[in-house]
Amino acid sequence: MQRIYMDANATTPLLPEVLETMRPFLLEQFGNASSIHQEGQQARSAVERARGSVAQFLGCRPSEIVFTSGGTESDNLAVFGSVRPGDHVITSAVEHHAVLHAVERLSERGVDVEFLPVDGQGVVAAEDVRKALRPYTSLISVMMANNETGVLQPVEEIGRIAGEAGIRFHVDAVQAAGKIAIDVASIGCQLLSISGHKMHGPQGTGALFVRRSTRLEPLSAGGAHERQRRAGTENVAGIVGLGAAAEYAMRSDGIERMRGLRDRLETGLLACAGGVNGGKAARVPNTTNLWFRSLGFDSLDGEALVIALDLKGLAVSSGAACSSGANEPSHVLEAMGLSAERARSSLRFSLHRGTSDEEIDRAIDLVTTQVARMRELSVVTR
Ligand SMILES: Cc1ncc(COP(=O)(O)O)c(C=O)c1O
Repeated sequence: MQRIYMDANATTPLLPEVLETMRPFLLEQFGNASSIHQEGQQARSAVERARGSVAQFLGCRPSEIVFTSGGTESDNLAVFGSVRPGDHVITSAVEHHAVLHAVERLSERGVDVEFLPVDGQGVVAAEDVRKALRPYTSLISVMMANNETGVLQPVEEIGRIAGEAGIRFHVDAVQAAGKIAIDVASIGCQLLSISGHKMHGPQGTGALFVRRSTRLEPLSAGGAHERQRRAGTENVAGIVGLGAAAEYAMRSDGIERMRGLRDRLETGLLACAGGVNGGKAARVPNTTNLWFRSLGFDSLDGEALVIALDLKGLAVSSGAACSSGANEPSHVLEAMGLSAERARSSLRFSLHRGTSDEEIDRAIDLVTTQVARMRELSVVTR
């Protein structure tokens, strides 16, 4: 059975050409980029080449890129590095946990945190950011694209509001990178996070854009690496891979093809799905989040559907997170006003650059058949 992978928002396959750029730095060119001998210098120049590629990808200077271990660390560095007790932070209810749990921890330490609501499509109103501003607001953190629905936030508008008020703006662009163009100048942010493994680079790599003269408290104490913003020996092979993934994203013209495949999948599945969560909003081109009904008004159990599809060779994810054994409905779908039942009956399909036409056809068939089976079962067991 040829498996179909449609969970690219969880992670994307590493591109073979990216692996090839990394290979020498795992084997022969193993130097520490801080060493002054030739082995070290080779590693240093590879790191700086990759920094140039990532900077070009985001539209900034190489010196404004800090390499990290991934999206979570980039988000944490942006949040913890910017805020002190007594400050006020504005964020949204639909952020990834890398931001949400970071600001929740801050609120336990005397930081005033405000979570902005979203509308039924999952979009933050930029004007709500303006209304939420306080004299002691030190950070606004709003994501560019949501990981569960793919819905895009009005980050340029929020950037203008933040700029007028002189408030630092962080954008979690982990799910936007490689799917839509990112330009830190037009967003007007001071900080922006990306992650290598969401854009066909290696897992455990990421970067934080830090605009020049933005002061940031490092998370870890140690050496003076990354201009004293991130201590620790650089992951040379990983950084090279992230640079190659950024080069690939800039070069590749597969985005419109991916949008066409996603739209075809969505149209095909709407024959058996109740609707698209966030479907009326602007979205990244690879994601669709659909909810499924059983016969009548009941919802299908999304997790059971994920397992059934997995057994048939299709990898997707459900609109529920398993925390402490409980099948919690997604905070994103709940913030959009969906009932817990509808959230639990929702599935996320996320495509990658290698998704084929034929996989879309097979996925539509598989889902249609499995949904019909589950509906029959729910009638029988009623
Ligand atoms: C929007 C968003 N931010 C941050 C992260 C965390 O990135 P990483 O897995 O590289 O730590 C993710 C991962 O799913 C994400 O989707």
